[in-house]
Amino acid sequence: MVSGMELGAFASSVRERVTSFMRSYVDYLSNDVPSLKEGVAYALLLGGKRARPVLAFAAGRLYGTPESMLDYAAAAVECVHSYSLVHDDMPEMDNDTMRRGNPTVHVKFGQAGALLIGDTLQALAFQILSDPRSGMAPSSCARLTSILACGAGYEGMCGGQSLDLEAEHQHLALEPLRKLHSKKTGALIRAAVLMGAQCGGERDPGDIEALDAYARHVGLAFQVWDDVMDVTEDSATLGKNAGSDLEKEKSTYPSLLGIEGAKRCAREAADAAKDALLAIKGDTSLLSQFADFTVSRDH
Ligand code: IPE
Ligand code: IPE
Ligand code: MG
Ligand code: MG
Ligand code: MG
Repeated sequence: MVSGMELGAFASSVRERVTSFMRSYVDYLSNDVPSLKEGVAYALLLGGKRARPVLAFAAGRLYGTPESMLDYAAAAVECVHSYSLVHDDMPEMDNDTMRRGNPTVHVKFGQAGALLIGDTLQALAFQILSDPRSGMAPSSCARLTSILACGAGYEGMCGGQSLDLEAEHQHLALEPLRKLHSKKTGALIRAAVLMGAQCGGERDPGDIEALDAYARHVGLAFQVWDDVMDVTEDSATLGKNAGSDLEKEKSTYPSLLGIEGAKRCAREAADAAKDALLAIKGDTSLLSQFADFTVSRDH
């Protein structure tokens, strides 16, 4: 991949590469439990923007990290993300029927099926991350494992999802809502950036601080824009149920600030993300383009 690349071309190449990398893991699973294997393939390999892998690759590219090593970090975070979507759609959570343009996993495989498919994807994430074939130094592998586990768990995505459910039918104030969004979505986005940056070795602490700030702002922008699109786009464009947040009376940025206010807030967060990149010496243009993409996408 050459320097000065456009995000669009870079993202398609990462999407293709990481999807086929993950497919190789699924293909390699035994056929002992065919329905579970089919469900894992369904949840992981059909569609998705692969936004977190793109971030991991863009961050790793700053340091010339081999793509063959970034595959492991990127696939691991995408497995956790895909699992989070499977559980997020379940009747006990958002109760949605469409995801990535297809029927949701619980619609196709049942509720127990969806639970187990999600669980299996989470385990697969850590299996991939700890695969010695990545060539990662053991110290990097341990650091990445900790970043991903923290991003996925109590302080991160699961904590945020829990707050999200508690906030249904409530009018959360801006600050608690920002915290909720930063956990449920920001934490895995942050993990993707920091894992991509650090899988090839230790980095300058100033760079990590700047990337951390970048990722926090992008993570917030990403979820605020997701809230906006729930109102402004239709289900066919989104590939998931439009209007789902309204139906469940979720606490969202548009519900609090209106559509224009929410868009403004998302754009401010994207600008703050780009500002954070100024502290980094390398070519951060892909990360900067990603921040703009976050708040201009239609799905
Ligand atoms: C959707 O994530 C859920 C959120 C965290 C906002 P994405 O918008 O990244 O969904 P996919 O992976 O492209 O389907
Ligand atoms: C979900 O947020 C974030 C996750 C951790 C999965 P949403 O519930 O808004 O995601 P969508 O809109 O269903 O993709
Ligand atoms: Mg949700
Ligand atoms: Mg949802
Ligand atoms: Mg949403």
